[in-house]
Order: sequence, then C-alpha cells, then structure tokens
Amino acid sequence: MPDVIAVIPQPAVLERTGDAPFVLTEATTVVADGRPDLIGIAVLVADLLGRVGGRAVEVRYAESGASDIVRLRLVESLPPGDEAYRVISRNGRIDLEARTPAGLVRAIVTLRQLIVSAPGGVLRVPAVRIEDSPRYDWRGLSIDVARHFVPVRDLKVVIGVMAHYKLNVLHLHLTDDQGWRLHVPSRPLLTRLSSSTSVDGDPGGFYSAEDFADIVGFGAARGVRVVPEIDVPGHVNAATHAYGELTPSGEPTDSYTGIEVGFSRLHADLPATGAFLTDVFSDVASMTPGDYVHIGGDEVLTMEADEYATLVAAASTAVRAAGKKVVGWQEIAHTPLEPGTVVQYWDTRVDPAPFVAAAEAGALLLMSPGSKAYLDMKYDASTELGLEWAGHIELRDAYDWEPSTLIEGVPGDAVIGVEAAIWTETLRDLPALTQMLLPRLAAIAEVAWSAPERRDWEDFRTRIAQQAPFWDRLGLSWYASPQVDWPQR
Ligand code: ACM
Repeated sequence: MPDVIAVIPQPAVLERTGDAPFVLTEATTVVADGRPDLIGIAVLVADLLGRVGGRAVEVRYAESGASDIVRLRLVESLPPGDEAYRVISRNGRIDLEARTPAGLVRAIVTLRQLIVSAPGGVLRVPAVRIEDSPRYDWRGLSIDVARHFVPVRDLKVVIGVMAHYKLNVLHLHLTDDQGWRLHVPSRPLLTRLSSSTSVDGDPGGFYSAEDFADIVGFGAARGVRVVPEIDVPGHVNAATHAYGELTPSGEPTDSYTGIEVGFSRLHADLPATGAFLTDVFSDVASMTPGDYVHIGGDEVLTMEADEYATLVAAASTAVRAAGKKVVGWQEIAHTPLEPGTVVQYWDTRVDPAPFVAAAEAGALLLMSPGSKAYLDMKYDASTELGLEWAGHIELRDAYDWEPSTLIEGVPGDAVIGVEAAIWTETLRDLPALTQMLLPRLAAIAEVAWSAPERRDWEDFRTRIAQQAPFWDRLGLSWYASPQVDWPQR
C-alpha cells in the first residue's frame, strides 16, 4: 500500500515521484548553511524529527556525505513570496528549499505532515516533489483572551497548532468589558485593577511586557506574527473600571463578568479620552514588531455616528503615529478610512454595501464571516460549549466557502486574507478551546492557503481524518465530526 499523503492545507503542486521513500534512521542528520538565520530553523527541524523519532537528531553546518540527510537551503528559483517553499524527498535525502527562513518554516511543517509511521515503528517520508505558496498573505486566528484569560503556556500550544496548518497571524483580543489582559506601562491601573476578572467570576490574568515578548518571539520562530487588539470605543468597561476619568461622572464603573455586549463606551468630549487613546496605542505599538495594530470598533450600540467616527479617527491616528497600520472590525467602514486600512468582516447579517464602498476607496478586507469562521459557534444543537447566534458550523461549513466572492461587489484583490475567530464567553480552558478549534481551524487554514481549484471537500475529508493521531499524540481535545470517517482510536 502506498504511504498516505495527507498534507493540510493542500499544496499548490504535489507529485509522487515513484522513487523509494526516505526512511528516518539513527544516522539521519540535518544539514544547513551556518548562516545565523538558518541555525534556528535547523534546530527547529532537528527538534521536530527528534521528537517524532524519539531520539536526538544532529545538525551539521556543512554537507558531509550525501545520504541520510535533511538539507535546508535558501534558493531563489521559487514562486513569488516569502513563504514559498519546495520539498523534494527520496530514498536517503530530503531537500527543503525556500527563498526565506519563513518559507523554510512552511517546508518543515509540510515535512512533519508527510512522515508516516509504518509497521515495526519505521518512520517514512513518501517520495514526493512539492512546490507551494499561499493564496493569501493574511491567514489568521483571533483569540479572545479577555472573556477568559488564556495563559502563555496554553497560547503556545495554540500557536503550535496554527503553525502546523501554516496560519501566520495571531490576533489577540486583549481587552473587553470583562478584563484587561496586557500590561500598558503608561497606564498601570488597567492591569492592576481590571485584570483579575473573567466571565462568570472565573479567575483572570494578564500578560506582562515580558510575557508578551515571549509570545511574539515564540510565534516569530514559527512564522506567526502577533496583531494586538485594544477594543475601542466600545467594549471598554475594563478601562472605565480602572480609570474613572474616562466616564462623564468621573467615577469608575463597576467590574463586569456577564456576557452582554454594547453597553460600555468612551466619550469623545472628555479631556482624558484623547490622552488615554494616545498613551495606550503608542505603548502597544511599541511592544509590537509586526506592522498592524487592531483598534476594535465593533458593537458600539449607544453612540451617535459622528462621535464614533471621531473616536475611530483618534485611535487610528495614534496607531499610525506609532508607525503601524490600522485594522478594525467591519463597523469602522462607516467612517472615513485611510487607504490600506484593514476592515475585518464578521457580521453577515448586515447590508454589505459599506464594505464594498470601503474596498473601492482603498481599504483591504479581512474575511471572518461569523457563519463560517467563528469557531466558538456550536457544531450542532448538541454541542455543549459555544454560542449559536451566527448559526451552527459543522466542519463542512467551515470548509466550503469562497472568500473572494463572499461579499458581492468587493474586488478580489481587495481581500487581504482570512481569519478564524474564537470568542471565549463559554470557553474557560485549553481543552475547551481546542475542542472548538479542531478540526475546523484546519478547514479555515486550507480556505486561506490553497487555491480554489485545489480545494475539494471529499478530498479534505480523507486528509483531515489522518490528522487525528497527531492531535491525540499532543493530548489535544478535538471534535469527532460525523462528517468524517475517523481512524479507530
Ligand atoms: C465581534 O464579533 N463583535 C467582532
């Protein structure tokens, strides 16, 4: 029987070459040029092969002997883009090639997915030639760490899963009515007074500057960049609880652990508001190596349009003054936007005309349709966790949709990418998170990476089934969708 090939997301080109498979042996070594930017990647692949094979794998910085090696190389002859890569495997040798270290990280996870354990504990890689690059530059997951806090160690598990499916943006929803989760040096009361709460009275928490740098670095090593979100001008009860100067009475608001939305707000006419926005967004921008900072902007239900536009503009100005680009939820499309602003589409129940107009005026659209990509929605009526305001999302619903035609009238090149989201009103720990993410996150990852003509539900069904042993080995909780013939456990 030929070895199984079940790579997710589906690569652009994948051919079996008919050669004998590569067999991982005790003599297998990783070989890379001794450039500083390749050393970390070589260690990553050696560590991964070592963990799969249960023994240490050596790294060499010069080719010695052409057999039993996994060779990492930077080359130019690839499709465009930083993430393009090639994997060529055959008896005795695997070549991983990319134009950049980021591309090599993609090659490494593809290799990880190609490893098959054959009877007798032998680990094989089928002889293939893969040449691949992503459809979209932005392939994200947004995690709400405000309703329930997600500790750094759990976040790293999720980042590992994201990288395994070649997702490259971790969007952290860091603030909401129920808690403030990032220490902001210029505004220390935010975490001192507003981080200990979560929904339902569960414990809270926050990321120190060191924690945040740790998350950013862990992500960067795996090709995942962080986009921090500070949600304004609504969803701000944690801020108004910490700083009474942000309320008209000058009195701090009470803490909040319910799950209603839309009641809290900033006030454009208070003198403290402008300084608050400038301080917070410049501090957050300075902690963020990536290009983007997210200003929220969603569900501000008790504000006139003019005041909303004033506050969105103030937040955007602060982000741009700190040298970053602006992302906001779809509601910001009702305000004047600078070209290049990213508008994150989420609520499919409303008239999409403003998003079409924003795209025509130079905004970019990030597709997170609630009915497909909100992975806190229940799978079906019997799912214990999650919510259902955007409907039920079975695996096939998360898979079978097309970002470029989702909103009629939006030009295809205005779509910057696809982002799943997971809101944590009902999700209080890592098993709850992964139960909702897996298998659907892999479906969204394929929507974001693979060209439409390379996507096929029946084929995906068979490939996703092969992922279950990997999740089990990591001890992750996941949902056994009845739409898939899972292997016996
Ligand atoms: C959102 O779901 N309120 C962006």
